[in-house]
Amino acid sequence: MPKALIVYATRTNQTKSIGELVAEGLRMAGVDVQMMSVQEFDKAGVNPEDFDALVLGSATYHGEMMQPMKTYLFKLEQYNLEGKAGGAFGAFGWSGEAPGRIFDTMKNIYKMKMVGGPLMLKSAALGGGVQMAQGYGKEIAGLLDSAA
Ligand SMILES: Cc1cc2nc3c(=O)[nH]c(=O)nc-3n(C[C@H](O)[C@H](O)[C@H](O)COP(=O)(O)O)c2cc1C
Repeated sequence: MPKALIVYATRTNQTKSIGELVAEGLRMAGVDVQMMSVQEFDKAGVNPEDFDALVLGSATYHGEMMQPMKTYLFKLEQYNLEGKAGGAFGAFGWSGEAPGRIFDTMKNIYKMKMVGGPLMLKSAALGGGVQMAQGYGKEIAGLLDSAA
């Protein structure tokens, strides 16, 4: 069974809720998922290289991703992520810069095989958010199929 790791940064848990739905979509498509905050990652001792897909999420504050996710993106330099499937998501209020910035870093620096674009939702609960987030997980799973 392919494996995906979801790591997120959040302040009021909207981004975590979106991540849980992305995880559901991945699981529906037969992917084993581990999900944790950036802070939990630091304690968990997991190695992103052990996963087939890496999915990162951050809320947007003051036009930027949250500081723990910025730090985490530098931390990922120690791993070889080239060719792994990837996606980026996050909750936002009006401008939503974070998911796009994360997405571009995963694509351009870590040479990951990314889905079509970042997932930005105002809330997991609004405007078809459940279906969109689950669909995003399925889309990431689809990259794993085509890589096989
Ligand atoms: C002080 C503050 C600044 C914010 N700045 C932005 C912003 O620049 N752009 C944006 O799209 N949303 C902004 N938001 C809205 C948050 O992104 C939104 O509330 C989101 O749902 C929070 O997600 P979280 O629960 O994962 O932390 C801001 C919210 C607060 C409280």
